[in-house]
Amino acid sequence: MAIATLTPALAAALDALPASRLPALLCTMPKAELHLHIEGSLEPELIFRLAERNGVTLPYASVEALRAAYAFTDLQSFLDIYYAGASVLLQEADFFDMAWAYLEKAAAENIVHAELFFDPQTHTDRGVPIDVVIRGLARAVERARTELGVSAALILCFLRHLSEAAAFGTLEAALPWREHFIGVGLDSSELGHPPSKFERVFARCRELGLHVVAHAGEEGPPAYIHEALDLLHSERIDHGVRCLEDPALVQRLAASRMPLTVCPLSNIKLCVFDSLAGHNLPALLDAGLCAMVNSDDPAYFGGYLNQNLVETFAALPQLGARQAWQLASNSFEASFADAAEKARWQARLDTFFLTAAA
Ligand code: ADE
Ligand code: ZN
Repeated sequence: MAIATLTPALAAALDALPASRLPALLCTMPKAELHLHIEGSLEPELIFRLAERNGVTLPYASVEALRAAYAFTDLQSFLDIYYAGASVLLQEADFFDMAWAYLEKAAAENIVHAELFFDPQTHTDRGVPIDVVIRGLARAVERARTELGVSAALILCFLRHLSEAAAFGTLEAALPWREHFIGVGLDSSELGHPPSKFERVFARCRELGLHVVAHAGEEGPPAYIHEALDLLHSERIDHGVRCLEDPALVQRLAASRMPLTVCPLSNIKLCVFDSLAGHNLPALLDAGLCAMVNSDDPAYFGGYLNQNLVETFAALPQLGARQAWQLASNSFEASFADAAEKARWQARLDTFFLTAAA
């Protein structure tokens, strides 16, 4: 069941808003970010600053040269550069600085709640202790609540190109810091690494009371989405855009209001779609799916959440104020916040649009 109802008064308000006002409304409306890899928020300027602080030599001469290398042909070509960028993260302060920089941007973008993915194996495999990673990120999350008024939480992701044993080892190593993360996810190279590979790890995570999500149907086939649901019992599907190839799957996702954390600019940069004008977000919403817009790896894909929204709406004129409201509403519904908090954010969103149209 959706948490929000489009009352006649709200529908009238949304329909009264002209398209010319959409860019400003998209940027100022309250919303949640549910698919953001914190390592993917590492801007080239911060990569160079941390490299200097830590005495790391980068294979790029300048910020501009690094940015120029951000021309991707698929997910793997991006991941190679993304993991190289993360090599400058060594100390707790580096993880804090990275997360704090993102959370300040989130506050400026009217993101009231953010659930942040982090990839411990990217760091522990380089010899960085997992507590250094988690403590640095958790300190930024805690400070965001008190100083920025942004509610934030961490989701630990397993790298699916690594083994089941490595995922179990990472879970074990993270458990002393269990209070600092609310769930687990599954990311990295999708093709050839189906969700089934991690069925037992996810079962253990669910036993521990952790939320579970998984990337599926980004580059991988609809069968991977079925596996994420049936074998991992995933509570959200990250990306999921390939579900439209399987009508029975779409029905299942719509009936269960399974959230899809869609990332339009990412999909263009990684060549999942040729252009934003050809993105299937309108079709996902028309099918009644609980989709919302997210930024994935904004430092690499050309924009944070507001940029994703503004560019996507500009490219797809069938998206209007009703869809803006729906996407933000879906983002709250799909979050792992408690029901009272979701209801407060939803009321804020409804008031925002009623006031805008008054
Ligand atoms: N890690 C960071 N971004 C990712 C993406 N879009 N897909 C899979 N793994 C990722
Ligand atoms: Zn992702």
